[in-house]
Amino acid sequence: MGIGTPQLLLVAVALVFSIAAADSPAVSFSFNFSNPSTYNQEADLKFEGDATPPRDGLVNLTCSMVGCKGRMSYAQPVHLYDNATTVVASFSTRFTFAIIRSDRCKGDGMAFFLASYPSVLPPSSSGGSLGLIAGPAADGKTTALGADRFIAVEFDTYNNSFDPKGSNDHIGIDISSVQMSINTTLLPNFSLHGIMTADITFDNRTRMLVASLWWLDDKNDPSPTKPVQVSTQLPEIQTLLPPEVAVGFSAATGSCRELHQIMSWTFNSTLARIHKERNKIPGLLGGLIIGGVVALALALWFLLSCWKWKRVLNFFRKGTAGARRFEYHDLATATKNFSDVYKLGEGAFGKVYRGYLQELHRDVAVKKIVKELNVGHKDFFSEVTTISEARHKNLVKFYGWCIRGHSWNILHFLCGWCWSMEKKELFLVYELMKNGNLHEYLHESKVTEVQSWRTRYKIAKDIGSALFYLHHDCKPCILHRDIKPCNILLDENFNAKLADFGLSRIAKTTVVGTVEGYVLTTAAGPIDYMDPQCKKHGKVRIDCPSDVYSFGIVLLEITCTGKSREQICGLYRSKGDVVKAADTRLEFGGDSERRKMERVIVLGLLCSAFETRDRPTMQQAMDVLERNAPLPDHNFITNSALASSDHDASSASVANI
Ligand SMILES: *[C@@H]1O[C@H](CO)[C@@H](O)[C@H](O)[C@H]1NC(C)=O
Ligand SMILES: *[C@@H]1O[C@H](CO)[C@@H](O)[C@H](O)[C@H]1NC(C)=O
Ligand SMILES: *[C@@H]1O[C@H](CO)[C@@H](O)[C@H](O)[C@H]1NC(C)=O
Ligand SMILES: *[C@@H]1O[C@H](CO)[C@@H](O)[C@H](O)[C@H]1NC(C)=O
Ligand SMILES: *[C@@H]1O[C@H](CO)[C@@H](O)[C@H](O)[C@H]1NC(C)=O
Ligand SMILES: *[C@@H]1O[C@H](CO)[C@@H](O)[C@H](O)[C@H]1NC(C)=O
Ligand SMILES: *[C@@H]1O[C@H](CO)[C@@H](O)[C@H](O)[C@H]1NC(C)=O
Ligand SMILES: *[C@@H]1O[C@H](CO)[C@@H](O)[C@H](O)[C@H]1NC(C)=O
Repeated sequence: MGIGTPQLLLVAVALVFSIAAADSPAVSFSFNFSNPSTYNQEADLKFEGDATPPRDGLVNLTCSMVGCKGRMSYAQPVHLYDNATTVVASFSTRFTFAIIRSDRCKGDGMAFFLASYPSVLPPSSSGGSLGLIAGPAADGKTTALGADRFIAVEFDTYNNSFDPKGSNDHIGIDISSVQMSINTTLLPNFSLHGIMTADITFDNRTRMLVASLWWLDDKNDPSPTKPVQVSTQLPEIQTLLPPEVAVGFSAATGSCRELHQIMSWTFNSTLARIHKERNKIPGLLGGLIIGGVVALALALWFLLSCWKWKRVLNFFRKGTAGARRFEYHDLATATKNFSDVYKLGEGAFGKVYRGYLQELHRDVAVKKIVKELNVGHKDFFSEVTTISEARHKNLVKFYGWCIRGHSWNILHFLCGWCWSMEKKELFLVYELMKNGNLHEYLHESKVTEVQSWRTRYKIAKDIGSALFYLHHDCKPCILHRDIKPCNILLDENFNAKLADFGLSRIAKTTVVGTVEGYVLTTAAGPIDYMDPQCKKHGKVRIDCPSDVYSFGIVLLEITCTGKSREQICGLYRSKGDVVKAADTRLEFGGDSERRKMERVIVLGLLCSAFETRDRPTMQQAMDVLERNAPLPDHNFITNSALASSDHDASSASVANI
């Protein structure tokens, strides 16, 4: 599954890249301007000067006026030779064109050219310059240099002073000069007229550039007349042009008017092979670079996985401060294979079993968490570490854990990101609390001798001091997130200890709403211990005041078992005696205990204030409970009671009395 996926993906991408780099298509095109589907005017063709895009099956290179010049060229560069390997392309082109004069005055002609890419129509190149070269300079310089160089086959209709004598019309081969053609072939006067077809070929072995021209006769007889030719052996082409060239047509008129029109054009070159040769080295280089990047990424990935793996191994071998890993086998033995007889109860995250753990020589409670776990995830380690490092006499002692179904091999970490959510069984081993939880004690217990106010007050103080420790003594502070009587356990001497803190973050619970991780425990009753502020915006944002809120509700539950906060609050607001709300089973003696009870109830109301800012801190709460400090200002309970109780009514369930 996961191991190869990203790797294969990268390799595939690299392959596609190198194939694309090495296999550029050959330059071969065939445009028939009568047939718009054969060309893409924007992508294939460039028009300069007076040249106009194709219409009515033809391209006008010049206008119908004197002194015109224009060019049409292929919009893409054509590779003529490879500078590194000196391999030269062979090419061939054929085009059908027309030269139309309107009177006996005619000129100047047109040409097929190869020039530097991109094509640039030279300035003042009308007339005899045929749009190929900037007009004769003052110094008489007639040869183009550098980027202005060109090779052209000219179809000249005007007898300039520099043209061969004997006729107006001739075809010729020009190398960077229109004045000094390499070879020319004279044609009958006025014969470069009407529709003609030309073939121009270049052979890279012989270096022969051959131009052939023939006419369709007046009746458009498709059988061509014997073509006329002009040819030359070019010098080394590397000395003539850059490796990439523009190919196309240019034309110009001088003092006479003449139309130069292209009807169709095909061009082929052996560039595919040239291209391949040319790209062999960059392709190889690109492949190497991409390969290197892939290798680097893989190495990094591997290192990260190893690091993560080592961390997990360390964690599981050595354990964290004070807590350790147990073998599943030992836990199964201790709980008689998690038999129902040994089941203590069922909590929000799974079942709890009791058992005697040989290794510890003591009774333990084993919590089997069946939720989806985030094993391997950062949060998992930090939470297990948090749980094992928090030590307080009023926190249930955490001995260690066990994860079943894990096989920590490097493969799992190599594909860690697709695997970490896999379902695992987690076991948490705690000290066994003989007297169960506070909820049972308050609601189900038949134990009558402990219905004394003194015991309940002690429980309140125990829980308070555990919370005080978590909030104020732990750095960074630890939130319990799930304070409720079910999570308050009692030992044989009725010392209360907080259990289950941090669990909501180990197991992947979506704590939104109240069900997951909050009210799931056995018969949690109608009282909601969750801070209404947490639920207000649809997402849970638990902070210290949220724990304080839950603590406040627990205080009310301890004193006024079964009554809702709003009932007690109502009694308080109507200046009634809040102690009347107290659990009727409660045994207390004397005014001092009665006064304490009243203070605990008011403190419970304060802690569970609707507004976060009205709640005391655990420090202030403990000052009241342990050091007899005066209660913090609680006038707001009377003043803002109505608003609060509205909110309370909507968010807290109503208790049955
Ligand atoms: C161009 O297309 C027209 C119409 O489709 C056709 O008659 C003509 O022969 C074609 N020319 C070339 C050179 O293929
Ligand atoms: C070419 O030029 C001639 C003369 O100006 C004009 O009649 C014709 O419409 C032009 N054709 C295109 C395609 O521009
Ligand atoms: C071609 O290669 C030569 C040296 O081999 C170098 O001087 C020249 O600049 C190169 N030309 C181009 C257009 O890359
Ligand atoms: C000519 O082109 C062919 C491919 O068509 C190529 O194999 C050969 O090497 C080229 N010759 C030269 C001298 O560039
Ligand atoms: C270009 O190549 C195509 C296909 O190979 C061929 O049909 C066409 O005649 C060639 N054109 C020229 C001008 O050589
Ligand atoms: C060009 O041809 C015309 C006739 O067409 C002639 O009068 C003129 O002298 C010729 N010019 C040159 C330079 O040959
Ligand atoms: C072209 O015309 C000129 C005169 O205008 C004449 O001298 C010359 O011989 C003619 N050439 C051809 C090939 O007809
Ligand atoms: C000029 O071209 C003609 C026609 O192809 C050819 O016979 C002649 O040998 C060429 N002259 C030179 C000097 O290349």
